[in-house]
Amino acid sequence: MPKWLKDAVFYEIYPQSYKDSNNDGIGDINGIIEKLDYIKSLGCNALWINPCYDSPFKDAGYDVRDYKKVAPRYGTNEDLYRLFGEAHNRGIKVLLDLVPGHTSEEHEWFKKSCEVDRNEYSDRYVWTNSVWQGIGGHLYVSGEAPRDGVYMLNFFKCQPALNYGFLNKTEDWQKSPDDPACIATREAMKDIMRFWLDHGCDGFRVDMADSLVKEDDDKKSATCKIWRNIREMLDKDYPEAAMVSEWSNPQQALTGAGFHMDFYLDHHGNGYNTLIRDNETPGGDHSFFKKDGKGDIERFLKDYLPKYTESKDDGYISFLTCNHDTPRSSFTLSPLEQKIAFAFFFTMPGVPFLYYGDEIGMRYQQLPSKEGGYARTGTRTPMQWNHDKNMGFSTGAEDTLYLPVDKSSDAPCVEDQLADADSLLNTVKKVIALRHEYEDLQADGSFEVVYAKAGEMPFVYKRGNLIIAVNPSDQAASAPVECTPSEIWKIGSVAIKENAIEMEPQSFFIGKIG
Ligand code: GLC
Ligand code: CA
Repeated sequence: MPKWLKDAVFYEIYPQSYKDSNNDGIGDINGIIEKLDYIKSLGCNALWINPCYDSPFKDAGYDVRDYKKVAPRYGTNEDLYRLFGEAHNRGIKVLLDLVPGHTSEEHEWFKKSCEVDRNEYSDRYVWTNSVWQGIGGHLYVSGEAPRDGVYMLNFFKCQPALNYGFLNKTEDWQKSPDDPACIATREAMKDIMRFWLDHGCDGFRVDMADSLVKEDDDKKSATCKIWRNIREMLDKDYPEAAMVSEWSNPQQALTGAGFHMDFYLDHHGNGYNTLIRDNETPGGDHSFFKKDGKGDIERFLKDYLPKYTESKDDGYISFLTCNHDTPRSSFTLSPLEQKIAFAFFFTMPGVPFLYYGDEIGMRYQQLPSKEGGYARTGTRTPMQWNHDKNMGFSTGAEDTLYLPVDKSSDAPCVEDQLADADSLLNTVKKVIALRHEYEDLQADGSFEVVYAKAGEMPFVYKRGNLIIAVNPSDQAASAPVECTPSEIWKIGSVAIKENAIEMEPQSFFIGKIG
C-alpha cells in the first residue's frame, strides 16, 4: 500500500477544460502546470488527469489511439514529464487514466487486427469466425473490416473490446483467459503502465476496471486475477504507485483485485446516490444533503457499512464530489448544502476526490453533446477563474473554446470566492486543511456510527478521537452524545450541552473528545 495515500486528497482534472495556455480554446498540460500552486493552495496533494493521449476524441479521449503519446492538442510528452516534475516539486502526485478495456478503432493494434492475414494482433481484440456470426449479449460490429468476422465493443461503437478472454466459454472463437493471446493483452497494458511510471507518473485511475474478462463469474475472479498479476508488478517495481478503480464494488476491487482505492460511484439507488442525487425516487428528492429532502441516513449506511467493514483492511473507498460522467453536485444542491455535503465527504475514511470546479460550485450546463459526452457534457465546461475574457480559462476567441463558459451573470469564479471568507471555496480549503491536521480524519482513521436514526437528524459519527455531527435539514435537531467534545470547527450554529449536541438547521460540527 503506497504510504502517501493515507493523507491523500485528490483533484480530478478534465484537461481540455482546465486552463488554456496557448489561446487555441482548449485546455492543455502547460495550463495545468500554471495552476499547480492553486491546486496546492486547496490542500489537494494528488491529481487524476482524464485521458490526455492521442485520440480521435469520439469519447473525449477514452478512445485511445496511442497510449504512449500525449494528444497534440494538450502538448507533448515532454510537457507531461515536466508536469510530473513540477507537481512533485510541490508535493503533488499525478495519476493518469488507464483505459485497459478497449482502444479507439483507429489504434494501430486494431488496424492490424482487421487484416485478413494472421498477425501478432489478430487476437488482440474479440472476433468471431464469420461476419454472419454475431455475439449474443454483447454489442458488436459486423461488415466493416476486410477480415471475416464481427468484433465486440466495450462501450461506444468507436471502442472495440480488447481481448482478455472468456471465463465461461461457450463458442469456439472465444479464448480462455490463460490463452497466450489474452496474456499478451495484459502484458501490453503492463508495458504501457511501466512507460508512464518510468517517466514519473505516480499511478493510474483505471477505466471500466471490471470489464476485462467476458462471461466472468459473479465474483469477477478471472478479471481479479489479471489485476492481481499487475499488482504484483507494482509491489515489486513501483511500490509507491497507486491504483484507483472505476468498479464501485470495494469487496471485489480492493479485496479481490488488489486495487488500492475504489470509487463509490453514483449508481441509482445506492448509498452515494441517496446522499446527494436521490432525485428519481417517487415523491421528490430525498437526498440526505438536501435541506428539505427529509433524507434518511440509514439508507446510506445500509449500503456503505458492509462495503466499508468488509474491505477496509485491503484498501480505501473513494468518495467523490462528482466526476466527468455525472451531473455536478450543484445540479441538486445549493452552495450551503454543498458545503455540508463536502465537509462530510472530506471527513469520511478512505481517499476523497474533488472534481475541478466543484470547489466553487460550478454549475451543470444544458449543452449539446460534445465528443460523445451527451448528458455528461454539461459537467465538462471550462473552469471559471476570474472575470477576464472567457472567465480566465482562455484568451482565445470565444467560438474556439472547447465548450462555452457559464455565461450567467452570477457564474461563480475562483477570484470572487477567494475574497469571500464564507465561500464554498474557503470552506472546502478549511475542511481539507483539517483533514491534513488531524490524522483521525485521514484515510485510516476509524469510523464509528454514534447516532443514526431512520428519518431523524442529526447524523453523528466518530473518527478516532473526533466526533462529527451533521444536520443538513432545515429543522433544528439534537442527539445524545456520551461526552462533551470541545469544538474544532463548525458550519452554522451548534451548541454542546452536557451529553447532548444541539444543532440549528443546516449545520456541521467537528469536535475533539476528552
Ligand atoms: C468510463 C469513463 C467514461 C467513458 C467510459 C468508456 O465510464 O469514465 O467517461 O466514456 O468509461 O471508456
Ligand atoms: Ca491550448
